Amino acid sequence: MPTPAIPADLSAWCIENDQRALDELFAFLRIPSVSARTEHAADCAAAAQFVADALARIGFAATIEPTPGHPIVVGEWRQAGPQAPTLLIYGHYDVQPAEPLELWTSPAFEPTIRDGKLYARGSVDDKGQLYLHIKALEAHLAVRGTLPVNVIVLAEGEEEVGSVNLEHFLEREHARLACDAVVISDSTMFAPGIPSILSSLRGMAYLEINVRGANGDLHSGMYGGAVVNPAMALARILATMHDAEGRIAIPGFYDAVRPFPDHVRAQMRELPFSDATLRHEVGVTALGGEPGYTTLERLWTRPTCEVNGLLSGYTGEGAKTVLPAVSMAKVSFRLVPDQEPDAIATLVQAHVERVAPPGVTVHVTHLHGGKPWRADLQGPIIDAGKVALEAAFGREPVITGEGGSIPVVGDFERILGAPVLLMGFGLPGENAHAPDEWISVENYTLGIRAAAVLYEEYGRRALLSPH
Ligand code: BES
Ligand code: ZN
Repeated sequence: MPTPAIPADLSAWCIENDQRALDELFAFLRIPSVSARTEHAADCAAAAQFVADALARIGFAATIEPTPGHPIVVGEWRQAGPQAPTLLIYGHYDVQPAEPLELWTSPAFEPTIRDGKLYARGSVDDKGQLYLHIKALEAHLAVRGTLPVNVIVLAEGEEEVGSVNLEHFLEREHARLACDAVVISDSTMFAPGIPSILSSLRGMAYLEINVRGANGDLHSGMYGGAVVNPAMALARILATMHDAEGRIAIPGFYDAVRPFPDHVRAQMRELPFSDATLRHEVGVTALGGEPGYTTLERLWTRPTCEVNGLLSGYTGEGAKTVLPAVSMAKVSFRLVPDQEPDAIATLVQAHVERVAPPGVTVHVTHLHGGKPWRADLQGPIIDAGKVALEAAFGREPVITGEGGSIPVVGDFERILGAPVLLMGFGLPGENAHAPDEWISVENYTLGIRAAAVLYEEYGRRALLSPH
């Protein structure tokens, strides 16, 4: 088969409008829409408004739907007619906190391009990847006055805090959100120049563990050795979560794990991957994880238990001899099919209560969860994605897995009954969730082209063979 190409009219429009597409993204990135922080609620509302305005300007009917948390933006364009398929494009306008601010080379909310990389919090995760779709929709509407499919754009503001209100919204609005397929650009490519389609995401159970000892902080000389120390108790509790080899030692934790099929693991082993490169990228002298699996298998196919935050006692300058009254850990579990977030949270809670030493009380809170997901990678949306990525990047995409989570993906399939295509434009080392987050400027512009071709290819294929 000849290499697919970007249609000339769309390509010409993209070339003419790349700079404006970047300028508009800069404006979006200047809004500090940090969903985790209540003091940024107004910024989240402003980012929602920004998305709604951008959609309205290109001819979409856009509404901002309030939720108990941050609002959801729904944009609709349905003039392709009832016989044409409907594509739902999902993304998120919220971002992770930018701290530690002093580690950014340029300020997190002042977008800056250096060496072909656009640095800003949210540049790749996910404002850039959401906005490139809006520009691709604009390309069709500007050049041809129409779109090859009906389109719903759904942009939420709580993805980075677990999408807690989205599932309910999907259930309530399922008739309005009915669609034939979903596309999400909120992930990374395997390597520069190698476009990728994701075949799996891990799920998540996020817990907070609070340990309380005495009524208040105590003099560690007057009481230490006789009163149980909550910081030490918490360290002991956390240490029971893995065995000495690196397996998770919480009873029942692996019971629901359904192994990845051999052909998927074989596909993963074919991808060019080097442990040494990863070590170098993150700056460690050795990698570690569950025995019996390659690094990619550990990242993509196996569940984990990680401490995300730890707090107790005196952490200021110098020394203070204190026996802390409390300690706290944020612990998250990445899950794989068919582990259930609630069931895992219940198991962990029971385990923590069982191993907690006498003399302290423990309290476990389940903050949020998300189901793992595995694609069957068939049907017109996947075929269209392959063609679109090849047209934009000049080579066929590879199929990859992913260690991160997008909690709503399983809900789309379950509630809307629509298959999901995950076609991301991030790159390894992009510093998502960390200082100096960036998106490759080239990938942003190629992403616009890939998305524009996707709509066209999907429209054609879905008409020929619906579902
Ligand atoms: N875009 C990421 C998920 C992701 C990361 C997909 C890397 C593919 C590659 C997303 O915004 C994210 O960070 N999700 C959170 C979800 C969590 C809060 C439930 C995550 O994975 O930590
Ligand atoms: Zn994201």
